[in-house]
Amino acid sequence: MFAEAVERLPSRPAQTTKEEFRDRQGRLTSQFRHDDLLIIASPPFAVRSNDVGYRYRTSSDLLYLTGWIEPESVFVIRHDGKAWISSLFVQPQDTLKEIWEGRRPGVKGAVSDYAVDEAYNNDELDEKLEEWLTDAHRVFHRSGVHAGLDRLVESSVQRRDRARQHFGTGPVAIQDPSGLLAELRLRKSSSEIEQMVFASKVAAIAHELAMRHSREGVTEYQLQSVIEGFFSYAGASGWSYPSIVGCGENATILHYTTNQDVCGSDEVILIDAGAEFRGYASDITRSWPISGVFSDAQREIYQVVLDAQIAAIEACRVGMPYTAPHDAARKVLAEGLIALGVISQSLDEALDMETGELKQWYMHNTSHWIGLDVHDAGVYKPGGEPRLLEPGMCLTVEPGLYFGAWRPDVDCPERYANIGIRIEDDVLITPEGPVVLTDDCPKTIEDIERIVGQGLN
Ligand code: GLY
Ligand code: MN
Ligand code: MN
Repeated sequence: MFAEAVERLPSRPAQTTKEEFRDRQGRLTSQFRHDDLLIIASPPFAVRSNDVGYRYRTSSDLLYLTGWIEPESVFVIRHDGKAWISSLFVQPQDTLKEIWEGRRPGVKGAVSDYAVDEAYNNDELDEKLEEWLTDAHRVFHRSGVHAGLDRLVESSVQRRDRARQHFGTGPVAIQDPSGLLAELRLRKSSSEIEQMVFASKVAAIAHELAMRHSREGVTEYQLQSVIEGFFSYAGASGWSYPSIVGCGENATILHYTTNQDVCGSDEVILIDAGAEFRGYASDITRSWPISGVFSDAQREIYQVVLDAQIAAIEACRVGMPYTAPHDAARKVLAEGLIALGVISQSLDEALDMETGELKQWYMHNTSHWIGLDVHDAGVYKPGGEPRLLEPGMCLTVEPGLYFGAWRPDVDCPERYANIGIRIEDDVLITPEGPVVLTDDCPKTIEDIERIVGQGLN
């Protein structure tokens, strides 16, 4: 069913090299004192029910620094007086466990295939950490990821508190490394961009297949299965966030994930779904009429959102504040709704954050960073000022208009009742201007009308 579509994908990008992971580690430790210690833990399994767990996904910071995906692991960087040493504590190789659960790289595999200087079985963690914490001044550790490790670090620091009185050594502070890592993760390397391009192309084709499969009577979950089925077929690890597949009034619910209704021929469907590839997210939204032909009312709203999205993408330029796409989108949306008679205020009034009418129909932001997390790491307003866009940053551009006739808080215009439109692409900032990573996904009215309902090839 997907064989032809998958042919449109580029070949899978090369894996990130060990040298690059080492470089990332180096850029972090270059900000440390030699008596600092960094600890990054993989989060524990989460139980779904009884003895079944949620699909495991490790922490993005651990992925960023090592590419290591296994659970029950802890990554540590310390300085031994001569050099920074990176260590990985891993699940031991265990034939019986591996027969049931899968092969484990173990200590040997960690050292030979990953960017670490040494590896240990994870049952050695307490003893080693205790030893290394003795000489550490600050401990970079994010609490709340792994309760057991939190207790270990805190008790070590408390014990060292006493030792410090005697010997004058031992950690004095636990600091969260997330901010330092976020600064690094915000600017994507060429290898990261390659992974993101692949994740984007998979999601773009998946959306097109869902368009092709749309017809009266199709269900939201069937369209979801086309999208997520293609993610798997294409070799993505799955979705990067739960797929939003909403028809009719469900399209006016921003994060609707029930996905159980039947689609009517006069309705618009909104699908917000992204694939994850080697930990990297894509995040695409498209909205289209189930019948394959926009009604006049649907077309009017769609065109306003599309114009807003194109204006916002245009604002994704080096040196612009990250708020520029939002400002551009809001202006075009407000102008459009004034022209359609939905908003009776002036442009300035409509845009007012307190009293403007625009926010009744457009109530979310236009952009967020995207990378290893769909809402990726990175402070939006360092020092209180909007961050200026730099080459290598990636963000989404996702304006929308939502006319929920079910809402008691607004007087929904009848003409647009239950039309929900969002158009979302993922954009890379480059010196030459915005590059839309998801631009394989159709979005003009003409293309959508040509494609919807054509069937899966
Ligand atoms: N898919 C969630 C978002 O667009 O932010
Ligand atoms: Mn998004
Ligand atoms: Mn989205």
